[in-house]
Amino acid sequence: MALIAPSVLSADFSDLRSQLAAVERGGADWIHLDVMDGHFVPNLTIGPPVIASLRKCTALPFDTHLMIADPDRFLEQFRAAGADRITVHQEACRHLPRTLRAIRALGAKPGVSINPATPVQVLADVVADVDLVLIMTVHPGFGGQAFIPQSLEKIRAMAAMIRERKPGVLLEVDGGIDPVTAPQVVAAGATVLVAGKAVFGTADPAAAVRALRAASS
Ligand code: DX5
Ligand code: ZN
Repeated sequence: MALIAPSVLSADFSDLRSQLAAVERGGADWIHLDVMDGHFVPNLTIGPPVIASLRKCTALPFDTHLMIADPDRFLEQFRAAGADRITVHQEACRHLPRTLRAIRALGAKPGVSINPATPVQVLADVVADVDLVLIMTVHPGFGGQAFIPQSLEKIRAMAAMIRERKPGVLLEVDGGIDPVTAPQVVAAGATVLVAGKAVFGTADPAAAVRALRAASS
């Protein structure tokens, strides 16, 4: 059964406390936090101060997705703010293994993400160093985009690499996940589903989490 990680990117930012409570009620496993710097991706979102405030609202693990250039500069701040998992982009790191080690040294669980145009093969030599691989199933930067169908083949290939090199590494997908695409990505090997619009774009986020769970199990 896949884990469900609602992304607050599509939530009402003026009322994040009750939005978190709603998905927690719906049985969400993690909270997915999208950090964007206007440089690695063409959008700006939240940083450590907001995450530190949210930390007081829920005990669910914070799955922090850093879409920022040179993330090394900010790892300590994100960890101090309450990030449990810190995922960086392969495309944004100069010395990826060093960054992953730094995340682990801070006591967080390291993850690595790749964009739709990046082949899974670039991860062959780092998959053993991570707890999680995040395959982007849209081009990062915005919520509410359509799932890229070619991603299914990448998810299958990544699942095979994990089986071969480091069984137990989680395989997360992010972008355009809804009750239609969820069963497809799970069949391809995904074990963690991020969903923004499909959860917070609905009138009842708790029910939306339950619907995703039903669709993916
Ligand atoms: C996109 C973000 C996603 C986004 C997903 O760059 O990384 O986490 O919130 O949103 P949906 O589920 O609406 O595609
Ligand atoms: Zn994300």
